[in-house]
Amino acid sequence: MHRKNRRKNNMPKGLKDKIALITGAGQGIGRGIAVRLAQEGVHLALVDLNQEKLDQVLHEVQQYGIKATTFIADVSQRHEVFAAIDHADLTLYGLDVVINNAGIAQVQAIDDVTPEQFQTIMDINVAGVLWGIQAAADKFRTLDRKGKIINAASIAGHDGFALLGIYSATKFAVRALTQAAAKEYASAGITVNAYCPGVVGTDMWVEIDRRFAEITGAEIGETYKKYVDGIALGRAQTPDDVAALVAFLASDDSDYITGQSILTDGGIVYR
Ligand SMILES: NC(=O)c1ccc[n+]([C@@H]2O[C@H](COP(=O)([O-])OP(=O)(O)OC[C@H]3O[C@@H](n4cnc5c(N)ncnc54)[C@H](O)[C@@H]3O)[C@@H](O)[C@H]2O)c1
Repeated sequence: MHRKNRRKNNMPKGLKDKIALITGAGQGIGRGIAVRLAQEGVHLALVDLNQEKLDQVLHEVQQYGIKATTFIADVSQRHEVFAAIDHADLTLYGLDVVINNAGIAQVQAIDDVTPEQFQTIMDINVAGVLWGIQAAADKFRTLDRKGKIINAASIAGHDGFALLGIYSATKFAVRALTQAAAKEYASAGITVNAYCPGVVGTDMWVEIDRRFAEITGAEIGETYKKYVDGIALGRAQTPDDVAALVAFLASDDSDYITGQSILTDGGIVYR
């Protein structure tokens, strides 16, 4: 079969002309998801803290001929998340998929975690996802749509990693919220799932590697290399790898899947 046709037949079903909102869309995995969904014909609301970065991604996704808009919101602020969801609906005329991708990492020994650090990461990684779930479900019910909610968890949501204890705790929490929300919204036809990447070469890992170096005395780049060397498939993950799973979860092909936190890590954590 011709390569192009094979690709077409393998495309996730029912993505074209869906409307999706992505938080943390200004760079890294969020940007990768935006580009992949734009390639599939999904109209996009891109949400982040920084307008300049959002404008770059907006320009990139508009090249695929989709409608797109940007919105500045801090996901730790409930009213800002609800405003972002309203903006998507008002600007793009509907909403089908909400991807709660924004998150931060924190590298700290359990002994040294301060109340402020704990609160900050909980507010963004856990409350940010909670507000995103609430706002999405509220909108889907108002629009009477069987929407899809997709949350960013991690391999650290399946195993607790040393020096990433609080980060891991936030990602375990995302899995819990994903399961509970899936059960609560199933009768409304809303599905809730999470993606769990491994070691993705984004700015987040540059920062994780730098902090490991600070705490353990490792060379810059050494921790990243150590983690990548432990991947069965023998290479670091790219945002495209993650986006492929998210595109599936956003498509009609995943209609019978809910409450799952699916690993995409090249072989690090096995469940
Ligand atoms: N990089 C990895 O290896 C990896 C692995 C597993 C899971 N994840 C998860 O994937 C998601 C994306 O990670 P990434 O690697 O692209 O990170 P990144 O740091 O490269 O990008 C994160 C984006 O989220 C935005 N953001 C941060 N706090 C925000 C807030 N309060 N409100 C709105 N936007 C905010 C940032 O501005 C940034 O654009 C995160 O939830 C992360 O925990 C990443």
